[in-house]
Amino acid sequence: MVYHVPWIYTPVRTILAIWHQLTKTEIPELTRCSVLMRDRSRVEEVIHAMRWAGAGSLQVISDFDMTLTRFAHNGTRIPTTHNILDNRLLISEDCAKRMKELLNTYYPVEIDASRSPEEKLPHMVEWWTKVHELLIQQKIRKDLLPQAVNESTVMLRDGYKEFFDRLAGQQVPLLIFSAGVGDVLEEVVQQNHVFHPNVHVISNYMDFDQAGVLRAFRGQLIHTFNKREGALCHAAGLPELQRRPNVLLLGDSLGDLTMADGVSEPENILTIGFLNDQVEQRKESYFNSFDIVLVKDETMDVPNAVLRYVISARERR
Ligand code: TMP
Ligand code: MG
Repeated sequence: MVYHVPWIYTPVRTILAIWHQLTKTEIPELTRCSVLMRDRSRVEEVIHAMRWAGAGSLQVISDFDMTLTRFAHNGTRIPTTHNILDNRLLISEDCAKRMKELLNTYYPVEIDASRSPEEKLPHMVEWWTKVHELLIQQKIRKDLLPQAVNESTVMLRDGYKEFFDRLAGQQVPLLIFSAGVGDVLEEVVQQNHVFHPNVHVISNYMDFDQAGVLRAFRGQLIHTFNKREGALCHAAGLPELQRRPNVLLLGDSLGDLTMADGVSEPENILTIGFLNDQVEQRKESYFNSFDIVLVKDETMDVPNAVLRYVISARERR
């Protein structure tokens, strides 16, 4: 009712404005034109709450391909962990051709804005199953994986070092949750010198025989639209992630939004989505689904800025 009393209205508005100025996050990166936010005040509230709770309450859950890795560089696509295996050391020309055909068939389905995740799911299972069968037939040698990664053009996003190093420095667990190939993913992280002890990986791991030759993939298949099951089965059981109710989640697919579903008693979840491709068709769904959408941004600038703010040296606890 105070708002209807003119003499009280102005001071109240002034106090609210001052309060807003005082509590506003100082994250200039969020004002870039590549940043979209459906509800900026919610983002601010969540970031404040995370900062207040401190590094001890935080965990970061991130997708890998096209989230921690770049989508493109100088107009050329960066390979995913599956595509890094496209090296004559590991697979034949014919196998590479068939994997490319499968990519051209199924990737458009994965990113199709007009189909629901439920509609996409059987196609993803089909894609992953066919590719894994092809890879097993190639009798890939474990000892050649480091060379294949080294010879590939894979690149982590600009600013990745600050991202990994800050989390390690503050002992904040980083769960990398990927539908890619775990062995290749680990090698990429190793070769970039950021496989710190706080990094945990859930992914599709290869199973090698005693001679170090690929014979199967281990465990339940993870594809882009069943990460929820993986989160409930694996992530929920990791002791390092317990009693950390605040989550910064990074992904490039709408399926990545379920990666935090295994967190017990979550308090604040901030989701950041990289919108790399098919921007116009997918903008609306990303805008409605992620708290922060980064449009064609090949850097870790925004996640780094959020982390700098949330777990800065000026921490309150
Ligand atoms: P992610 O969960 O780390 O993003 O990994 C999944 C991505 O891998 C997904 O966007 C599609 C991509 N992918 C390929 O590039 N080639 C393949 O053969 C398969 C099966 C997936
Ligand atoms: Mg991805």
